[in-house]
Amino acid sequence: MSAKSTPKKTVKKTSDDEVVKKPVVRKVNKKRPQLLRGMKDILPQEQPYWEFVLESAAQTSRAYGYDRIDVPVVEELNLFVRSIGTGTDVVDKEMYEFETKGGDEVALRPEFTAGICRSYIEHGMMNLPKPVKLWTNGPLFRYDRPQAGRYRQFHQVDWEIIGSPQSALDAELISLAYHLLTGLGLEVTCQINSLGTPETRKAYITALKDYLKPHKKNLDEDSQERLTKNPLRILDSKDPGTQAILEDAPQMIDFLDDESREHFMSVLEYLDEGDIPYRLSSRLVRGLDYYTHTAFEFILKADEAELSPPALIGGGRYNYLLQELGAPEETPAIGMAMGVERIILALKQAGIEGSPAPKPDVFLAQIGETARKRALRLFEELRQEGFVVTSNISKNKLSDQLSLASKAEARVTLILGQKEMIDNTIIVRDMENGSQETIPQDDLIRSLRKQIKQ
Ligand code: HAM
Repeated sequence: MSAKSTPKKTVKKTSDDEVVKKPVVRKVNKKRPQLLRGMKDILPQEQPYWEFVLESAAQTSRAYGYDRIDVPVVEELNLFVRSIGTGTDVVDKEMYEFETKGGDEVALRPEFTAGICRSYIEHGMMNLPKPVKLWTNGPLFRYDRPQAGRYRQFHQVDWEIIGSPQSALDAELISLAYHLLTGLGLEVTCQINSLGTPETRKAYITALKDYLKPHKKNLDEDSQERLTKNPLRILDSKDPGTQAILEDAPQMIDFLDDESREHFMSVLEYLDEGDIPYRLSSRLVRGLDYYTHTAFEFILKADEAELSPPALIGGGRYNYLLQELGAPEETPAIGMAMGVERIILALKQAGIEGSPAPKPDVFLAQIGETARKRALRLFEELRQEGFVVTSNISKNKLSDQLSLASKAEARVTLILGQKEMIDNTIIVRDMENGSQETIPQDDLIRSLRKQIKQ
């Protein structure tokens, strides 16, 4: 068929204005809306864990000199296809992709690295002093089969160091991960490998294929398919038969060129120097195509014996991705991401609690309409004075409000009734010993400060 007669899928480009003006006629389904499979509500009782993990991550990132960046949830589909690679599960099976009303092919981000690299290039960050250290966190989307610790919308904290090939940075990144995880109270192991350069990787893939081909019919179904599409991923197989065949497979480390070997040895020396424990793992290849040289994953010590334990943090070097995405020169980089849901699951399993919300200094109780009006204003005055204050303005009965105050473990309850409104006073009740006194409203802040902020 000549190029002229090839039927082409034409995407009608619409202007943004047209899209906004054209309403869609929708059928309304009366079924009760439900949470989608693989999605999760993070309920109030879960929040202390989230706060604990995200606050620790933020503090650690600042201490290690990372600047915060935020990139959009939606990007060009092509960005992820080019970065993560065709043949990977993420690109071939797991993308939330769609065409916008304007005809653009877009995807919900399945990871942060690609978006951060795009942003680095687009904003000319190559002109900043190198390396550029960036961190972020937020939701990501992969249409994977949900299971414990695996969701379709999940959250990562992500770190990227862009613009330097130095092995000391690989070690510094791994050290950040180790200290963050152990600081949270988790016992972890770092599994580490080197994937070398794209050339060494290619040579290894050929050797692996040559080794596996005669065993093809004994490999599990997925691995048989991967033999042509993405042979490295066979190393991740959980199938015992495939694992047995892999026992004698060639090892990546034997294929490294001198430079890659030197880089890897240097990373390990830095880790030894920093007392960061690690285990060499020749089968660790990671599921995304952009990795070169160092690749690592942190798993729970308790999961060490498992064939393919879930990773809490995964990362590695990607020395060619930025140039592939349009950076004007070779821009070596390294990064990693931590799965927040997996960390929280591990914390719960280890019986580690999150950060509880701060207990209120003051519960403000009111009786009657005039007192309620005054209470609204007083609440804000106390908050602005720096007190952690709470109240329940919808309750009328004092007994209800006092029981809420003791449930919230407030230090002090303030009671404003009709009599107090007339006398311009307020009752201050010490919730620890039950004593109470009536004081002029004008003395309240001074008195509270004495009682609470001593
Ligand atoms: P990744 O290994 O695909 O790497 O994901 C990193 C971490 O995110 C995993 O170790 C896991 O903790 C968590 N994770 C991944 N998928 C899910 C899921 N479906 N549900 C819950 N948690 C999940 C990356 O994403 C790379 N971008 C990391 C990186 C940054 N490499 C260089 N820079």
